[in-house]
Amino acid sequence: MILITGATGTIGSEVVRQLAQRGEKVRALTRDPSKAKAKARARVPDGSGSGAEAAVEVVRGDYLDPASVDAAMSGASAVFLVGVLGPDDADRDRALVEQARAAGVHRVVKLSAIGTGDPAVGRVGSWHLPGEQAVRESGLEWTVLRPSAFASNTLSWAEAIRAGEPVPNMTGDGLQGVIDPRDVSEVAVEALLSARHAGHTYTLTGTELLSVPDQAAVLADVLGRPVVTEDLTPDESRARLTEWGMNTEYAEGVLAGSAYVRGGRNAVVTEEVRQVLGRPPRTYREWAVDHRAAFGES
Ligand SMILES: NC(=O)c1ccc[n+]([C@@H]2O[C@H](COP(=O)([O-])OP(=O)(O)OC[C@H]3O[C@@H](n4cnc5c(N)ncnc54)[C@H](OP(=O)(O)O)[C@@H]3O)[C@@H](O)[C@H]2O)c1
Repeated sequence: MILITGATGTIGSEVVRQLAQRGEKVRALTRDPSKAKAKARARVPDGSGSGAEAAVEVVRGDYLDPASVDAAMSGASAVFLVGVLGPDDADRDRALVEQARAAGVHRVVKLSAIGTGDPAVGRVGSWHLPGEQAVRESGLEWTVLRPSAFASNTLSWAEAIRAGEPVPNMTGDGLQGVIDPRDVSEVAVEALLSARHAGHTYTLTGTELLSVPDQAAVLADVLGRPVVTEDLTPDESRARLTEWGMNTEYAEGVLAGSAYVRGGRNAVVTEEVRQVLGRPPRTYREWAVDHRAAFGES
C-alpha cells in the first residue's frame, strides 16, 4: 500500500488518481476526510467506485497530530511526502521521515522545489533542505523531486481575468521552466513504483522558458480574451502578499524567490521529465487548453 500525503493538493491528488488508475492500493491522507470526499468528486477517488479506483482509502491525518500520521503510515510500503512549505516546517518534515522509517516503510519520494540549496534563492531556498537531508540520511530508498513553477499557479488569475482586471506580476520578465503539475505527479508515481529512481534528485521543468507575460499571452490566446499583467515592485508585492493574509516570514520568502526569478536565475530547463517518462513534458499551452473551464470558458 502506498501512502500519499498532501492527497487533496495539486500534486498529491493527481498522484492518487494515477496510482488508483494503475490498480495500486492507495491510502490518501487529509486533515478532513469529509472535505476530501467533497473535493474527491472532482479529484480523489473515495473508494466507493468500482474497479481499480476502489483501492483508494481516505484517512484522517494531521502533521500536528503525530499519532494520526503513525496510524496512516502503518502498513505502507512507500510514502509520498508533501510537507507544508514554510519556515516552521523543518521539524515536521524531519518527523515525517522518521515516522516512515519507524513504520517500516521502505521507499519515500519527497516533493521539494527547484532552487533548493542555492543560497541565491534566499530563505525560501532553505525551507526544503532539512526534509531533503532527512530522506537522504534515512536509510530508505529515496527520491527527491524539485519541480519548477507549476502551470497551475496561474489558476489564481482566474478571478481577475473574469473581472477584466490585470493579473499581478512579481517576477518581471524573469523566465522559468514552467511545468504542468500532472507531469510532476507522473514522475512521482514512477518513483513510487520503481527502485530505478532511488538515490536520484530530479529537477523537473517543462520544455520552454516562460515569463509571466509569456504565460498571460498564451492564456489570452487560448481563452480568446485579453490577459493583462501588472508589474509590481518588491514593495508593492509585499503589500499585496500582506493583503492576502500571508505572514511576514513567508511573504519575505516569496519575495526572495520572486527576486531570484526576476534576476533570471530560475531560467532552467532540464531533460529529466523526458528521461523518467520517456516523453516530452506537456507545454503551458496544453495545460491552459485543458483548464479553460477554470477560467470561465467552456
Ligand atoms: N506551486 C509551485 O509552483 C511549486 C513549485 C515547486 C515546488 N512546490 C512545492 O509543492 C508543495 C505543495 O504541493 P501542492 O501544491 O501539491 O500542495 P497544495 O495544493 O498546496 O496542498 C497542500 C496539501 O497539504 C496538506 N496539508 C496542509 N497542512 C497539513 C497538515 N498540517 N497535516 C497534513 N496535511 C496537511 C493539505 O491537505 P488537507 O487540507 O486535505 O489536510 C493539502 O493536501 C510545497 O512543498 C512547495 O514547495 C510548489
